[in-house]
Amino acid sequence: MGHTYLDCLAVLGIGGAHPGGLKLTKEILSGEALDQSKSVLEIGCGTGQTSAYIAEHYGCHVVALDNSNIMLDKAKQRFATINSAVETIHGNVERLPFADDSFDFILSESVLSFTDIALSISECQRLLKQGGKLLMIEIVHEQPLSEKEEMKIKDFYGFSQLLSENGWVRLLRQGGFEQVSVEKHAIIFDEHDLKHATEFSPSENVSHEYFNILKEHEYLSNFYKDNLGYRIFRCSS
Ligand SMILES: C[S@@+](CC[C@H](N)C(=O)[O-])C[C@H]1O[C@@H](n2cnc3c(N)ncnc32)[C@H](O)[C@@H]1O
Repeated sequence: MGHTYLDCLAVLGIGGAHPGGLKLTKEILSGEALDQSKSVLEIGCGTGQTSAYIAEHYGCHVVALDNSNIMLDKAKQRFATINSAVETIHGNVERLPFADDSFDFILSESVLSFTDIALSISECQRLLKQGGKLLMIEIVHEQPLSEKEEMKIKDFYGFSQLLSENGWVRLLRQGGFEQVSVEKHAIIFDEHDLKHATEFSPSENVSHEYFNILKEHEYLSNFYKDNLGYRIFRCSS
């Protein structure tokens, strides 16, 4: 079987694998009431960059979950290196291994598009305590794409669906989130900002095929830069 885009992110160990990277994450979290009393779940944590930041910066109890062993191993290495108490769990966002009302805050950065979105949303809703919040960053199509173009993008990334902003809001409401606020955020890329440059933590003997996948991702992002965007969704019941 050929390698997928998600395999590529895992093998190259790309940290901050969402639009805006850690810089955007820091900005959006700064508006949230996070402190030591809050329990946080990061779904699809990848190499754990955001979970480590939340635990370190806000002192919250953080659980980081992913269904990729490669990603989770890299996240565990990160947490061990910085002596962080983040808990790691191997699990599927569509069937989360926690009791109802377990968390104050769930964070999902470029994850749900890769899953059965309706199932994942209802799992997040189930796990949130009363007054809890789901914060997501997700890709949207800005204008309708042709069926062929949509297929091409979905196939390459392995998305289950490619939704518009309204499509996301509809599914979030159907999943029990009555209050959904949406923010469109411009990414300002600063090539001199080394602190927030893309992080790589590659596995050994990386096949050149992964670099071809990365190149195709860069090509598609550039080609569809006017059609594809992203939104920040803040959701509560
Ligand atoms: C685009 S990456 C984003 C990783 C991380 N959130 C970040 O921003 O760096 C998507 C992540 O979601 C994980 N993922 C995809 N489907 C999943 C599922 N059904 N359950 C758990 N994790 C999943 C992948 O393994 C990958 O780590």
